[in-house]
Amino acid sequence: MQAIRQIFGWAIVWVCMAASLILTGCYQTPSLTPQEAAGKHLYQVRCAHCHEENDLALKKVPPDLHAVFIHKTLPSGAAATDAAVRQNVLAGRGLMPGFAGRFTDAQMGDLLAYLHTGLR
Ligand code: HEC
Repeated sequence: MQAIRQIFGWAIVWVCMAASLILTGCYQTPSLTPQEAAGKHLYQVRCAHCHEENDLALKKVPPDLHAVFIHKTLPSGAAATDAAVRQNVLAGRGLMPGFAGRFTDAQMGDLLAYLHTGLR
């Protein structure tokens, strides 16, 4: 009798652990699409050192881009649209260099897709 009770007790423990693992798995933020993941790589290599670390110690601190598409306007006041961000990246602005010729159209699409995730 004692043995059966013990087995039953462990069975409940295991079922609860499995259920909690499954539940936490379900609540994780959805993973990035391949396009967003490609954009994340470009962001990390080309943008993050300035926009997150300001490693060049620029006097004008590069703005945080996490919510760039959540706000209606960019830090400069321009409407926060794909076209405006694309233009800013290609042409540069103030202390930010232009990236014209350094991104293909597809790479620019990847980068914008990633910026739209809020930089997950
Ligand atoms: C050398 C450092 C540097 C790098 C590299 C850089 N930025 Fe910037 N960025 C800046 C600075 C400085 C500003 C603020 C410019 C200003 O308002 O004078 C800025 C501004 C911006 C803005 C706001 C534009 C606006 O209208 O307010 C966006 C969007 C942006 N950067 C995106 C990017 C993206 C995407 C990349 C990577 C492809 C990138 N930046 C790479 C320094 C950098």
